[in-house]
Amino acid sequence: MPPAIYKSRAKNDPFHSMVWMNEEPGLVGRSYDIKLATQWASASITVIKHRIDINSLAHEASKKLALNDISVCNLATSKPLVFDAYTQSKILGSFILVDRFSHATVAAGMVRHSLRRAQNVHKQALSITRSDRERLNGHKGKVIWFTGLSGSGKSTIANALEIELHAQGKRTYILDGDNIRQGLNKDLGFTDADRVENIRRIAEVAKLMMDAGIIVMTAFISPFRQEREMARELIGPENFVEVFISTPLAVCEQRDAKGLYRKARSGLIPNMTGINSPYEAPGHPEIALDSSRRNVSESVEELIRVIAD
Ligand code: ADX
Repeated sequence: MPPAIYKSRAKNDPFHSMVWMNEEPGLVGRSYDIKLATQWASASITVIKHRIDINSLAHEASKKLALNDISVCNLATSKPLVFDAYTQSKILGSFILVDRFSHATVAAGMVRHSLRRAQNVHKQALSITRSDRERLNGHKGKVIWFTGLSGSGKSTIANALEIELHAQGKRTYILDGDNIRQGLNKDLGFTDADRVENIRRIAEVAKLMMDAGIIVMTAFISPFRQEREMARELIGPENFVEVFISTPLAVCEQRDAKGLYRKARSGLIPNMTGINSPYEAPGHPEIALDSSRRNVSESVEELIRVIAD
């Protein structure tokens, strides 16, 4: 009998077990490419259910997947895929995950089953659309995504830009790292995994606010290229302006308004960006501004020019 093949109508969220094959750990919320038979889509791990200790076969909780880890995870894909359980079809029941930048195969896995929510959650069509709201506002919604080290000037420049846009009668909002981490994201710290989840949530919130017709400015370190690219893709490249505040580390460290660099240098903060946690500078931002070379009003003028394009 041929294997039972079915096509799920909603966004798939199948339940997989897989082996991690990359030095760089697998993180919940990070976007990878998935290849299943001849199909390609974007996929992210939504939950690591457990990793399996290969000596004792015990199930262990884990926040990330290290090289050679075997785990059971939930995955979400960006579009529906034709698939089957591995026990039914080796071809339609196995997949690989591929890193979007290096194109390395980072994981190989088997499909166990689809989650019920994949078939039972549907998008609700609503009558008033983004363009209706934009017409009322008299301008388009967009996302201006600031990235840079702590103390580089993201919040200061975003704040000055908002004052200018507000004076022009535009509807604006700033999502700022230090503020959002006291509410929506107060459960998150500064491990790589938590930073990925921080940015994933912010990208989703920024998208919703843009849909509400607002010019959203996000001021987060957002240290990883992969999550910034995920945000660009989610929000749509035509709506997304990446602003790299390129102020050098030495200047940020000298400013040290919050005393965090000093603490990090004396070993009190284990994962301070730029000191003992990485910052991946953007390769092709829409605009780069160094706050040690340009004053705030010059930066705002330049931003207004780029946003207007
Ligand atoms: S992100 O890396 O996840 O994007 P986010 O922008 O939300 O970071 O938060 C950064 C702010 O948190 C910094 O401006 C700083 O005030 C504070 N902070 C506290 N601990 C750290 C740390 N270990 N690394 C960086 N920033 C930290």
